[in-house]
Amino acid sequence: MKGYHIAVVGATGAVGQELLCVLERRNFPVASLRPISSARSAGKSVRFRNESVPVQQLDEDSFEKIDVAFFSAGGEISRKYVPLACRADAIVIDNSSAFRMEAHVPLVIPEINAEDVQRHRGLIANPNCTTAITLMALFPLHRAFGVHRIFAASYQAVSGSGARAIDELTQQIKSGERDTASFSPSGSTLPATVYPHPIAFNLLPHVDSFLETGYTKEEMKMQNEARKIMHLPQFCASVTCVRVPVYRAHSVAVSAEFDRTVSVERAREVLAKAPGLELVDEPQNNRYPMPLGVTGKDNCQVGRVRLDCAFENGLSFWVSGDQLLKGAALNAVQIAELL
Ligand code: A2P
Repeated sequence: MKGYHIAVVGATGAVGQELLCVLERRNFPVASLRPISSARSAGKSVRFRNESVPVQQLDEDSFEKIDVAFFSAGGEISRKYVPLACRADAIVIDNSSAFRMEAHVPLVIPEINAEDVQRHRGLIANPNCTTAITLMALFPLHRAFGVHRIFAASYQAVSGSGARAIDELTQQIKSGERDTASFSPSGSTLPATVYPHPIAFNLLPHVDSFLETGYTKEEMKMQNEARKIMHLPQFCASVTCVRVPVYRAHSVAVSAEFDRTVSVERAREVLAKAPGLELVDEPQNNRYPMPLGVTGKDNCQVGRVRLDCAFENGLSFWVSGDQLLKGAALNAVQIAELL
């Protein structure tokens, strides 16, 4: 076996581009690469291993002779084309939320539930980015103390909304800078198309669509996906997800309540040893995780570990991670490596 025939659906997007870099950087055994995208990308090519590879338009025959297909072009595309890829005998690693909660589809973070991959039937789902980054720190604490609920707020970068959101933030920053004197607090000088309000110089307590309960879909992913990944059906999570004017890397402030007595010392010990995680926790030296500190890095970082003053057996912490990597492309390639 010289390697695998790989398709990347959404190869021109923010996650797709990162996937190509990760496959190359980790020396994944790629025998051939088929970058796939929409008609909008006709004539474009992507760089892979110092070669220019033409992008193909997605159609029903895109998966012929493909061994592994990565999907990162949104839920609608996955719903329509993942079944076609499976029918063509490709193993699919899907980054969208389309199939994550289906019972027969493993939802995998290799550092946490690698063994779940074994029961796949041709499709494995990649978790939500904020959930993945949170669990990288929460799961080791769960193993030590037994978690039953968390309260959390996320600080999510615009790259989580794709390449157009990255451009929108840049444009708004430029027009905001040009217009400093007349910049109005209402942000009316900053045209917004990806988000319902300007994201530059602002915070949006709104990620994904609202449900009747008042939570957003993104907020409920933390509870639902974490239950499945940690095999913990009673786990509860009350989360507020916030989009922030950061280009890359999500952060999450978490307060977690545990079954067993906690100690900061033991928590630090456990976190320092956890795979894929670095403990950056020296507040007296101004050292704590930040988006700029994890951008482009495989490992997530955790810090600000302290006894929670409102919970009885509680710990509060702050975790940051590059959501295009651990939250998407890196995790997907790690799943392929497991296979
Ligand atoms: P394209 O660049 O041709 O629009 P992002 O998350 O950064 O917005 O990227 C989304 C990715 O999904 C892009 O590669 C985009 O391709 C791809 N995509 C979007 N819609 C379709 C579609 N209808 N068919 C195939 N690929 C699509």
